[in-house]
Amino acid sequence: MTTAKAHANIALIKYWGKKDESLFLPFTSSLSLTLDPLYTITTVSKDSTLTKDLFVLNGVTQNSQETEKISKFVDYFRKNNQFVRIESSNSFATAAGLASSASGYAALSKALNQEFEWRYTDLELSRITRKGSGSATRSLFGGFAVWQTGDDESSFGYSLPTQMDIVMVIAVVDDQKKSHSSRSMMKRTVQESAYFEAWVQQSERDFSDMLIAVTERDLRRIGLIAERNAMMMHATLLANQTPFFYLQPKSLEIIQLVQQLREQGIVAYYTMDAGPNVKIITNSTDQAKVIEQLSEILNQDNIIIAKPGPGASIL
Ligand code: DP6
Repeated sequence: MTTAKAHANIALIKYWGKKDESLFLPFTSSLSLTLDPLYTITTVSKDSTLTKDLFVLNGVTQNSQETEKISKFVDYFRKNNQFVRIESSNSFATAAGLASSASGYAALSKALNQEFEWRYTDLELSRITRKGSGSATRSLFGGFAVWQTGDDESSFGYSLPTQMDIVMVIAVVDDQKKSHSSRSMMKRTVQESAYFEAWVQQSERDFSDMLIAVTERDLRRIGLIAERNAMMMHATLLANQTPFFYLQPKSLEIIQLVQQLREQGIVAYYTMDAGPNVKIITNSTDQAKVIEQLSEILNQDNIIIAKPGPGASIL
């Protein structure tokens, strides 16, 4: 029996579009921050009494469709046709744009690596984890992490050594499971969006700029680049043949608040993923001011304060 813990990550430069669907190869490199309060704990046990894998998520035994998805991933590690019992729980809402697939697959690979005695390094593990969920490549690592594009061999995640005072205040606008997964929507964007090529080009530039900003610990620059990169990702969806957007009225209200905070001289920038929640980028000096004003729009229970978190580990 092996138990592993992995933290979710929020991308500052987004992964949005696969150039190879079956190998999970992204068009562009992405860069993220792993967060402390959002994590998944997963226990994997080999069980010779099982005739197929068993997957329990947050106390609920998953149906055959969900279990088969996980079983396909377990196959990358499985030895001697042994089935496993997987028990996983999230410290936060699942599939609500809070990167549960990232922490989920990272915790699962970490646990499977040990349970089946593979001894893969985190870089090797990240390459395999990619085939569970792209963003999970980055959740094996703490703090700032990159997932580089490339081919099957060279596309994996790694950690950036920068440590700095950065806080993400997560405004949970809606914690229900989203109706349009990032996987399906990024696929449609690749196929349909009139802006997709422009996105790839701009995102490559943003990635290079972000690497410099992170190395220089320049929070204002990190914030500005993250903001425009996220909005460009959302713009690709608006330019689909059938336009789509994840933003809700509350998300816009929070974005406007962030702009006002900045006019007041407060460090505040935002990013958004495949859901309506807004993640505000700030630092520990200005965090209280951000929360104070955000509390006028959102209930305290819907505000999560997240500092950088560690890489995945065996418990
Ligand atoms: C908007 O990693 O969930 O959060 O690889 O198909 O599982 P799959 O997609 P997923 O997509 C994450 C998209 C994003 C941006 C990001 O995390 O980089």
